[in-house]
Amino acid sequence: MNQDQLKQAVARAAVDYIKPKLDTRSIVGVGTGSTANYFIDYLADIKGHFDGAVASSEASAERLKAHGIPVYDLNAVDEVVVYVDGADETDPRLNLIKGGGAALTREKIVAAVAQEFVCIADGSKWVETLGQFPLPVEVIPMARAHVARQLVKLGGDPVHRAGVITDNGGEILDVHGLHITEPAAMEAAINQIVGVIANGLFANRPADVLLLGRDGEVETLH
Ligand code: 5RP
Repeated sequence: MNQDQLKQAVARAAVDYIKPKLDTRSIVGVGTGSTANYFIDYLADIKGHFDGAVASSEASAERLKAHGIPVYDLNAVDEVVVYVDGADETDPRLNLIKGGGAALTREKIVAAVAQEFVCIADGSKWVETLGQFPLPVEVIPMARAHVARQLVKLGGDPVHRAGVITDNGGEILDVHGLHITEPAAMEAAINQIVGVIANGLFANRPADVLLLGRDGEVETLH
């Protein structure tokens, strides 16, 4: 299987994984990106089995609606039974780097609300130590240069993702050169910088389950 087929395989496996957990009142949290898009397409096959979805981006909301899946504002729902999303990197403890699609802040919010976070990823995302993928940091635009200087002090090499404005009106710095041996501490340290909206480390709230596509199979890792 190529990378795209592995993305489809883990997306299909996620639908099979969550289906027994759903009833007609359930709200499903839905992530952003190409793997999440496959998940949305397969989720449409079981749309009678749950009430609706909350989305981590405008793009995913549009795709859900195009399939006839109701999309709710997160403030309008009492609970999110499960959140399914891709990742840019995962380590063996299911700490993640996310935000390659610039949706990290809303992804982090929906993941925080969800009872269970199911990450779906092809094998190219698996690393022993996070940081080979540049860490996305969403910032208030007027704070971009200040945040960049502070990120250099943390050992990173931040690069402005030019031309990208997030769904929240933020800008993205992609931080190269980090070797993240303590993801939770790094996540907290970056959050302390004034002007940071969120960073793409999911260590304080890692995935609960990883459906990983490699060697032609889908592995379930906890
Ligand atoms: C978007 C994300 C995505 O989950 C991440 O970029 C993976 O994307 P893809 O499934 O296209 O490889 O964090 O902000």
